[in-house]
Amino acid sequence: MPMALEATDTKKKSNDSPALDIYLPPERKKIVDGGKPHVMAKNFSIYYGEFEAVKKVNADILSKYVTAIIGPSGCGKSTFLRAINRMNDLIPNCHTTGALMFDGEDVYGKFTDEVLLRKKIGMVFQKPNPFPKSIFDNIAYGPRLHGVKDRKTLEGIVEQSLRKAALWDEVSDRLDKNALGLSGGQQQRLCVARTLAVEPEILLLDEPTSALDPKATAKIEDLIQELRGNYTIMIVTHNMQQASRVSDYTMFFYEGVLVEHAPTSDLFTRPKDQMTEDYITGRFS
Ligand SMILES: Nc1ncnc2c1ncn2[C@@H]1O[C@H](COP(=O)(O)OP(=O)(O)OP(=O)(O)O)[C@@H](O)[C@H]1O
Ligand SMILES: [Mg+2]
Repeated sequence: MPMALEATDTKKKSNDSPALDIYLPPERKKIVDGGKPHVMAKNFSIYYGEFEAVKKVNADILSKYVTAIIGPSGCGKSTFLRAINRMNDLIPNCHTTGALMFDGEDVYGKFTDEVLLRKKIGMVFQKPNPFPKSIFDNIAYGPRLHGVKDRKTLEGIVEQSLRKAALWDEVSDRLDKNALGLSGGQQQRLCVARTLAVEPEILLLDEPTSALDPKATAKIEDLIQELRGNYTIMIVTHNMQQASRVSDYTMFFYEGVLVEHAPTSDLFTRPKDQMTEDYITGRFS
């Protein structure tokens, strides 16, 4: 079972709280071969210059489960997520201390191949960002980059990836059309498909539905449930209902500190920390 990790400098709750008015996640199938730590943070800090945006995080992210990251704006959610596949490397002045391990290997080790790391750990952003190319070429982009040239193989990958992202039926007759002609929700599923095309192990989703309408949001949430069990998924969200609907575990950050990390149903119904309770009950945002 996962560890409910708490920062030492936050306030513990002293008494039982009243029942929280929050949706309870449904009982989900236990994932047979999941549950091993896939990503492990050990005293892991992330700095922008002198500023410590993420503070000495200790956490195990379990394989094949869905982990939600919640917390107020500026608390370090995106910074933490981007650190996992070293997207922060692109930001000048950003550096880390402590350790971050992926499959037991040091992500920030001297010999880490970042291209390979980002193949294994894919990312989807808040705003859908398809390339201004055909649907086919968007999905084939990654595999081509990694050396796949054969047309038949590429066609297979494109179809499989679009099927996994629950988009195939909507686009199979227009693969040669520009991806920018798709709706926002379709574009976001295309971005998921593009990530899946290189067979990642981990999917990092940074507020993937915040630019989408409720119907497109529901499709992405359904998709997350479809992918659950095959990939380790981490999703940043401001929407607590969404976190409770889609995730197995939740991490609550406040001012760069990982305040609480627990099974989602526990965190939303029996938060251990007063700060978590205040946040999830809307006492601050
Ligand atoms: N490129 C950067 N350079 C300097 N500081 C940054 C940079 N990016 C983020 N920060 C700072 O780091 C802290 C964490 O930012 P981050 O974007 O990770 O927060 P967040 O929790 O994702 O917020 P939001 O919910 O608004 O997306 C904030 O104080 C932010 O101002
Ligand atoms: Mg963010």
